[in-house]
Amino acid sequence: MSESYDVVIIGGGPGGYNCAIRAGQLGLKVACVEMRGKLGGTCLNVGCIPSKALLHASEMFETASTQFAAMGIKTGGVELDLPAMMQQKAEAVDGLTKGIEFLFKKNGVDYIRGKGRIAGAGTVEVDGEDGAKTLSAKHIVIATGSEVTPLPGVEIDEDRVVSSTGALELDKVPGKLILIGAGVIGLELGSVWRRLGAEVTVIEYLDRILPGMDTELAKTAQRTFAKQGIEFRLGHKVTGVDTSDPAKLKVSIEPSAGGDAETLEADTVLVAIGRRPYTEGLGLETVGIEPDARGFISNDHFRTSAENVWVIGDTTHGPMLAHKAEDEGVACAERIAGKAGHVNYGVIPGVVYTAPEIASVGKTEDELKAEGRAYKKGKFPFQANSRARTNHTTDGFIKILADAETDEILGAHMIGAHVGEMIGEICLAMEFQAASEDVARTCHPHPTLTEAVRQAAMGVEGWTMQA
Ligand code: NAI
Repeated sequence: MSESYDVVIIGGGPGGYNCAIRAGQLGLKVACVEMRGKLGGTCLNVGCIPSKALLHASEMFETASTQFAAMGIKTGGVELDLPAMMQQKAEAVDGLTKGIEFLFKKNGVDYIRGKGRIAGAGTVEVDGEDGAKTLSAKHIVIATGSEVTPLPGVEIDEDRVVSSTGALELDKVPGKLILIGAGVIGLELGSVWRRLGAEVTVIEYLDRILPGMDTELAKTAQRTFAKQGIEFRLGHKVTGVDTSDPAKLKVSIEPSAGGDAETLEADTVLVAIGRRPYTEGLGLETVGIEPDARGFISNDHFRTSAENVWVIGDTTHGPMLAHKAEDEGVACAERIAGKAGHVNYGVIPGVVYTAPEIASVGKTEDELKAEGRAYKKGKFPFQANSRARTNHTTDGFIKILADAETDEILGAHMIGAHVGEMIGEICLAMEFQAASEDVARTCHPHPTLTEAVRQAAMGVEGWTMQA
């Protein structure tokens, strides 16, 4: 006999688990099917969370090695214990996945372990550890996330040629690390291993890093990372990695626009050229859903083309970000419950957790120019912020863009210490359609880095006071 649910969610990542919790809160009978053996998806198990654990620890290591003496701290030598660093990462992940299990129990969500497959309207079959199970569902939510995009000619073995998953588990610091792709993963994990001692080279197809982000931000970031020792080969593509020599990998690259090929040597290669939707074996054909050419399932307010089948997160269009999936999960559960859940796609921040951090929300200058929209900007350097100076974190700036006529904030782009936390203020302001003057006239505590946000907002109308 099959178990009956109002909602069966396939996938227990940030999209799926938040959708399940919200559905439970709204009184729906809900199950979440997850095949990984742990809740939390890519983000919690092999993405956002373990990478942040290593970013934090490696930044502490670098700070202790290079900056403590200048602050009058004698450590008697700093030494890396990589297994212990990996262990504290694993403990953070473990605690958080168990936390979701607790939240499921608290909100009445059934956690079903196994691979879920849609088997016609209203039916999900689960192939689990304890055998097969059939669930009947009034609503099915697809939240199966994404997987690493492979690169032709480069076979990932998660040992010497790794994806982000393998790069979070290396058992020794590579002498020479080559990153393919100067996107978010490349820069974050490249930073981790550079701080721990690797020589890092980034091969990027385009002639810039961080495509899609504000150009001025990306240029400043590149200069800063280059100063830290990361080498950039922009406008180049990798055509193959030869693994036949057990001592060295041979990476063939050539200019993207054509030209002479070159071979670089490396101990480890990280492939980080993006991710693609994961819908393998999901039974989409049984309900007539056809993903587009890139594998994405289209949606209209999270509804797919099949009745009562919904889609959220990386499997559908939009930025592949945990918090976007989370917002969609919440709104989708609310819609299933007959409420008016919605996501404001104009206010989804993006953060790169390097040092300095990089954070953006809303429109970039390039986008506003392309739209022909008149805008004003205010910019403030951390060099002029008192707290940044006491903390020795003076790299970077904050830029706020506002409509030339109404002064409504249209976007903010930041690079500097802790800007990943500071962007939240602008997100809130934008949700309220605030003017830059609203931020400029809001009292901010002194001395804090957040005063730089205020000073940048003042700059929109030309009255920055501290630079
Ligand atoms: P990405 O899309 O951020 O960057 C991929 C980069 O690879 C691009 O710059 C692209 O031009 C380049 N590229 C593509 N093909 C290439 C080739 N053949 N040779 C050289 N370069 C090539 O993808 P990434 O870094 O793999 O991240 C995957 C997803 O995960 C993204 O959607 C990202 O937003 C998300 N993510 C978000 C994080 C965050 O929010 N902090 C952290 C890590 C990942």
